[in-house]
Amino acid sequence: SRLLLINGPNLNLLGKREPGVYGHTGLDAIVDDATRQAQSLGHELLHFQSNHEGALVDRIQQAATESVDYILINPAAYTHTSVALRDALLATGIPFIEIHLSNVHAREPFRAHSYLSDVARGVISGFGPLGYRLAVAAAADALGQPLK
Ligand code: DQA
Repeated sequence: SRLLLINGPNLNLLGKREPGVYGHTGLDAIVDDATRQAQSLGHELLHFQSNHEGALVDRIQQAATESVDYILINPAAYTHTSVALRDALLATGIPFIEIHLSNVHAREPFRAHSYLSDVARGVISGFGPLGYRLAVAAAADALGQPLK
């Protein structure tokens, strides 16, 4: 099956950005790890990162035309603001998992609300880069290839 990993704004700065909150691991290392893990479970993983809401909407719409089976998304700040991302995900009908490196419930109150969580298959928050591995494992499990 085909998984699409999407990372939203400022996640290109992972490793340098607020390391006390987000850690020292860069996005490339996270994506490489998720790609290898997906492959080891018999899946393909595509990746897209953008700092632009419209580009993220376009990428989600495109997923519907390229037989993506599952979306793994860290919408970053757009989690808390974007009806457009919610609508794009609902429009594709592709199941998705919401990922956050930090525990959004242990931070500023505005981070506790997500425009996506109630329509996500599940939410992973607070486990740092491991959250991406957990999301790949959960998607693979849902696609019928349980975690090795
Ligand atoms: C984040 C949490 C968001 O609140 C924040 O805006 C981010 C990253 C996370 O991965 O912990 O940019 O999605």
